[in-house]
Amino acid sequence: MKTNISISSLDAARALTEQFITWLNVDKNQDFHLAISGGSTPMILFQLWKDLYFDKIDWKRLQIYWVDERCVAPDDAESNYGMTKKILLDLAPIAPDQIHRVWGENAPDAEQIRYAAEVNATVPTTNGFPSFDLILLGMGDDGHTASIFPHQMELLTVNEAIAVAIKPNSDQRRITLTGKTIRNAKQVVFFVTGEGKAAILKEISDDATTAQNYPSYHIAKDSTKVIFYLDQAAAKLL
Ligand code: 6PG
Repeated sequence: MKTNISISSLDAARALTEQFITWLNVDKNQDFHLAISGGSTPMILFQLWKDLYFDKIDWKRLQIYWVDERCVAPDDAESNYGMTKKILLDLAPIAPDQIHRVWGENAPDAEQIRYAAEVNATVPTTNGFPSFDLILLGMGDDGHTASIFPHQMELLTVNEAIAVAIKPNSDQRRITLTGKTIRNAKQVVFFVTGEGKAAILKEISDDATTAQNYPSYHIAKDSTKVIFYLDQAAAKLL
């Protein structure tokens, strides 16, 4: 497991951002297809981009997508798009046609098809799957990533690029990139902070038998293009 460990979550966000900008600037003639996660961890990242990196990011070449979205309206407090819009997108110099949100207000099955068509029309394809330049992932306390939860391990290997997922306990529908799409990206980054994730990270890093139950583990195994950006709290058992 490839890691980049910083003292604080802000330092980890900064290190990740510097790497993102390096990748973004590799080919200044091409659009850069970036898929971002929701949940709480990336808030510090988006805040940082707004506060300190506004002038350093070449916004006009960015095409932004969501790794996963909760099936709720965009103004719902649970909307990943809504969170990013409030913190960053409303202020960023980015045109509406560069923002490819999941329409969480649609019926999930219809949105799976609509979003897959939008992704297929705009993201380059290799090996029959979309090939994002960078996918930014989080990791949940149960080892899930994107909206691939331990009770739906089949989403790691299904042949669709985008799927409908179900969040355990709440039954909330989600739209998510599948394992094959995530693995097909040029770069994959996990941004994970806080002591609460330390034990799972250790199991993943140790290739523990229990790690087999974590969707994140199956993505993390590809150390050629997967990097974990961690703060010291999350990395404390590594
Ligand atoms: C979501 C996410 C999800 C997230 C993890 C970690 O919509 O919830 O995209 O996969 O990355 O659940 O969430 P936290 O950052 O809130 O711990």
